[in-house]
Amino acid sequence: MTKPLLDVLAGKASSVPPVWLMRQAGRYLPEYRDLRTRASGFLNFCYTPELAVEATLQPIRRFGFDAAILFSDILVVPDALGQKVWFEEGEGPRLQPVTDLAGLAGLKASVDLDHLEPVFETIRRVKASLPPHVTFLGFCGAPWTVATYMIAGRGVKDQVPARLAAYQDPRFFSAMIDLIVGASIDYLSAQLENGVDAVQIFDSWAGILPPNEFERWAVEPVERIVKGVRARHPHARIIGFPRGAGSFYRDYAQGIAVDAVGLDWAVDPAWAAREVQVVKPVQGNLDPLALVAGGDALYRALDRILDALSGKPFIFNLGHGIVPQTPIAHVEQMLKRIRG
Ligand code: CP3
Repeated sequence: MTKPLLDVLAGKASSVPPVWLMRQAGRYLPEYRDLRTRASGFLNFCYTPELAVEATLQPIRRFGFDAAILFSDILVVPDALGQKVWFEEGEGPRLQPVTDLAGLAGLKASVDLDHLEPVFETIRRVKASLPPHVTFLGFCGAPWTVATYMIAGRGVKDQVPARLAAYQDPRFFSAMIDLIVGASIDYLSAQLENGVDAVQIFDSWAGILPPNEFERWAVEPVERIVKGVRARHPHARIIGFPRGAGSFYRDYAQGIAVDAVGLDWAVDPAWAAREVQVVKPVQGNLDPLALVAGGDALYRALDRILDALSGKPFIFNLGHGIVPQTPIAHVEQMLKRIRG
């Protein structure tokens, strides 16, 4: 049986696009909130296969999405590099900041894949129980985005600590990027070896970089990851998501050998059809808040996307993660509109 989403990644068009949603396993689902109470802390949730398998499958059962995304987090990579990582309830991630070469020397030289074995166990179990037409996606964070958290120790406005480090201490900053590039190649390769069909590289903070820095920190390291993964898995399918890349989306699509490019919600789908989709398949890009609002706002946004991008190589998604206050009825209405 063929997998519609993998067909798109191979460059094929279909009249009805395959659909999945970033953060589709999450707090907008009552069954997720229920499952979440069974783990002590978010990282433990990610490292408990029984729970992570269930979280991965919940949105597939409820909505019949065309892809399941591994339930985990981009910050398991710094965790497996030996950095202290935890999640504050109701707030978000916290890390013991690494801000100089001495701090970097305190981390492992490469990612500890044994530490991530529960993630690989989750992958093997999900693979065994997924419907055959559903594509199974693994992921990692892009080096720039992971570095912003490793340096600041949390999500901060405008990523000031990481941007300053890149300018002021380039030796430290590029060493950190190199470490994450190597870790990501090992981690994505292991995900593919354990059974994911394709992987997505999330660069959630790419859009904050000025032009020279975008090329250096958002394009070049991701290109090295793509090459490194393909050296081990020549047919690996890879989606790149440089959130907020704006006019650089075209350069990103041309410059990096990813199979598809994820668009954030600020990109005009008609522009993306002309400038990006002619280069490679695109994924996106409904505003998650249009999905919260529902009604006319939702249908207008949906139709603009579908009119511009459907019938060509296209994967429907949001422009960033689904938010906790999203009504489930709106997700159902959205799917009806897309699938007709
Ligand atoms: O459903 C899926 O998409 C799969 C799982 C997934 C999670 N995080 C689970 C999660 C994926 C792919 C991610 C990626 C991720 N994690 C990114 C890149 C994509 C993006 O959203 O920008 C980033 C930057 C992170 C780091 C992270 N993890 C933050 C900043 C937060 C706190 C914000 C929040 O939404 O709470 C998390 C926590 C997190 N990761 C949750 C989930 C379901 C919520 C935690 C909870 O349930 O308590």
